Amino acid sequence: MTHRKTPDRLRSARWFAPDDLRSFGHRSRMMQLGYAEEDFRDKPIIGILNTWSELNTCHSHFKERVQDVKRGVSQAGGFPVEMPSLSVDESFTKPTSMLYRNMLAMETEETIRSHPLDGVVLMGGCDKTTPGLVMGALSAGVPMIYLPAGPMLRGNYAGKILGSGSDAWKYWDERRAGNITDAEWLGVQGGIARSAGTCMTMGTASTMTAIADAMGLTLPGASSIPAVDANHQRMSAACGRRAVEMVWEDLTPDRIVTEAACRNAAIVAMATGCSTNAVVHLIAMARRAGINLTLDDLDLLGRVTPLIANVRPSGKDYLMEDFFYAGGLRALMKQLEDRLDLTAMTVTGKTLGENLMGAEVYNDDVIRPLSNPVYHEGSLAVLRGNLCPNGAVMKPAACDPRYHVHQGPALVFDSYPEMKKAIDDENLDVTPDHVLVLRNAGPLGGPGFPEWGMLPIPKALIKQGHRDMLRISDARMSGTSYGACILHVSPESYIGGPLALLRTGDIVRLDLPNRRLDMLVDEAELVRRRDAWKAPEPHFQRGYGWMFSRHVTQADQGCDFDFLETSFGRAAGEPDI
Ligand code: FES
Ligand code: MG
Repeated sequence: MTHRKTPDRLRSARWFAPDDLRSFGHRSRMMQLGYAEEDFRDKPIIGILNTWSELNTCHSHFKERVQDVKRGVSQAGGFPVEMPSLSVDESFTKPTSMLYRNMLAMETEETIRSHPLDGVVLMGGCDKTTPGLVMGALSAGVPMIYLPAGPMLRGNYAGKILGSGSDAWKYWDERRAGNITDAEWLGVQGGIARSAGTCMTMGTASTMTAIADAMGLTLPGASSIPAVDANHQRMSAACGRRAVEMVWEDLTPDRIVTEAACRNAAIVAMATGCSTNAVVHLIAMARRAGINLTLDDLDLLGRVTPLIANVRPSGKDYLMEDFFYAGGLRALMKQLEDRLDLTAMTVTGKTLGENLMGAEVYNDDVIRPLSNPVYHEGSLAVLRGNLCPNGAVMKPAACDPRYHVHQGPALVFDSYPEMKKAIDDENLDVTPDHVLVLRNAGPLGGPGFPEWGMLPIPKALIKQGHRDMLRISDARMSGTSYGACILHVSPESYIGGPLALLRTGDIVRLDLPNRRLDMLVDEAELVRRRDAWKAPEPHFQRGYGWMFSRHVTQADQGCDFDFLETSFGRAAGEPDI
């Protein structure tokens, strides 16, 4: 390195170095913790933002892992401090974890800014924790390294391999069709999540940690290591060591999260069969770094990037554990070398290209060569039309191709409970050509943009053997979901987007190759309907939800709060102590 930071230039020196009353207070309080001055003076203080909680089942190993990180920080001559952070868990948070991603981002930014931290290790993994932590840390701007929780082991029941989410939906449909017993259903319940770690399909968690990895924010390939593998402990200690070095090197995130890094991350996401949620988070993360990544950029990359990770739900056969054994994300990125910007800087202090040296694929059925992809295009397509002027997204590889071009009558529901009641009605008047529509499920309507987008197939059709149909909503869907689901319709219906004007019986047309989604209703009629439309009552009258409703942006903008976006105003300076 050309210039190494000297101890007097450490951020934490503002708290601890001056010979004044304030600093006396800071030093004496550190001594209250049992530390001698030489333990923390002139050393990089590394905040370890730990999103552990007893209800975050995906992060249950973080309580021990944080000890490995601390060990690494101390070994490298830093001083570790664990900072418990909002543990946005996917499994239990109601109405939806997405309501709280921005809260974690705000907490992260302010925790870093207000404390004597020279650098941070961000411990996350369960869906929203990756973008939440990264968004906040990007705005805070101190050197940071991301420690991904890692996927859980493969699910297993009665000799069958089970995938998070995906198999829950599959077995649920079979149960509704009366094809499996209660005992089998209980067996699946006990076998589908059997170790610490994040969902082990290529759901939102694995997609987002892969994105952080491809952006250069993790140690190379860290995102693929299973949570309970001893490699994960060693990686955690290495994160601690590296965070200290990054402080001396002044390797701040603005040098890593560049336009090239965001593009690299988008290409890798497309090649992995990524969760549709990645679109929203990637846009939000890029914007925190001052980069205007758009839906159109992502659609363009989606058209030219083949899907090469054969991991469910977009891939057919394998899970994250197999992906790791096949070489993991470094091996996948190696296949994409000609398409990535290899000069991009990473947390290692080396370029992406240097980090990929020696990476190899050990099973080319799991990580396919570009000449034999799982699907010829990337995992996401962005649609536009009179139903979604600002865009909607779809996962072409995860649905039956016969729905790629489809026309049928809409069956519209205004709320989730209304839809749920109807789909369980065995006498519902519905055909496989119908287009199921759910509205009022967007960022404001849900509220919080819930994962309702994989609308259940009506029981009447399940019994006839159907397992897919065209579905449209302004909701998100779980990254472990699949099917012909069009999501993130923007603007959302709750604020008067055109989806609000659609009526049962109207003909809807999807033309995926041309990226169009339209309702075949004439303009004059739409104007009449718009005049008659009334805005629904607000969901929140106070509290965080009220603030969320006032400031959240639409899906195509990343759903950040407008006042947290980089372009909103000048960032706060360093605390004036
Ligand atoms: Fe945490 Fe899926 S529930 S990653
Ligand atoms: Mg999920």
